[in-house]
Amino acid sequence: MFEEVPEIARIDSAAPALSDETFIVLRNFIYAKTGIFFPEKKKYFLEGRLAKRLQYLKIAHFEEYLQLLKHDQQKHNEFEFLCNTITVNETSFFRNEPQINAFQRSLAGEVLDIKKGLGTRTLRIWCAACSSGEEPYTLAILYLEHIKPRFPDLHIEIIGTDINTAILESARKAEYNHYAVRNTPELYVQKYFDNSNGIYRLHEDVKNLVRFEHHNLMDRQKNRRMMHFDFIFCTNVLIYFDEKSKIQVVGDLYYSLNRGGYLFIGYSEMLHKISTAFKLVSIPGATVYKKE
Ligand SMILES: C[S@@+](CC[C@H](N)C(=O)[O-])C[C@H]1O[C@@H](n2cnc3c(N)ncnc32)[C@H](O)[C@@H]1O
Repeated sequence: MFEEVPEIARIDSAAPALSDETFIVLRNFIYAKTGIFFPEKKKYFLEGRLAKRLQYLKIAHFEEYLQLLKHDQQKHNEFEFLCNTITVNETSFFRNEPQINAFQRSLAGEVLDIKKGLGTRTLRIWCAACSSGEEPYTLAILYLEHIKPRFPDLHIEIIGTDINTAILESARKAEYNHYAVRNTPELYVQKYFDNSNGIYRLHEDVKNLVRFEHHNLMDRQKNRRMMHFDFIFCTNVLIYFDEKSKIQVVGDLYYSLNRGGYLFIGYSEMLHKISTAFKLVSIPGATVYKKE
């Protein structure tokens, strides 16, 4: 899952080296703060991604960098930079078709009935590790295409959050390359993007449906403030956590959902051994977790 990073090939021989001992201290620090766990075989990944930063800061040793991280976070914002450097942000529009179908089915099947029954007119969706925004914007397009025409009185609130502040900036900008839209139906590309010189700019009516906020899923106090969602998408991020972090995060997400709400996780992720609180709902091609 970390393989797509090519920086390792570009580390020059003068770059600071990360010893095995310092790697353990650094990875424990990262794990405690973010839930992201780097096994031994990913030492090269951290070293590769951070070496240039050390050179930029004119820091010769990773031990010194650790001190900066531990004691000087406020002054240099180094923890923020670290998060922006070590996270893997792979995503795309319409990334997981079965999941999109499952979202539409669960929505049409009963969530809307519940909303109507409660007299609640706002559908609340949280994309909890949204990277550069493709996932929440995909949901916004689906809303405009399929939900709004049928339920004009139903409002939608989509919140995209991520630990990486730089990637959130690009999410707000909403300009993409062809690779990001490669799975998007051509009709939607034509309808919701302006394409010039290979840059796909998302239309304002889609952009305006999504709000982006910085949020670390390991921050339990902040998690407690994320409440009353009908859908939570927490996709392709749990793979970076170990079992303990997954249990904590998924437990918090359970409380963030409304009764009858759904949690979507990544294609290769399962809540087996992580949580028994949800009801597993099998929708062809996708596994969805429901809070009953
Ligand atoms: C591979 S991307 C997944 C993007 C999108 N959900 C998808 O499935 O296409 C993983 C994202 O999780 C974010 N992330 C990693 N640890 C996080 C944490 N502790 N809290 C919030 N976001 C985190 C990363 O910054 C990255 O943008």
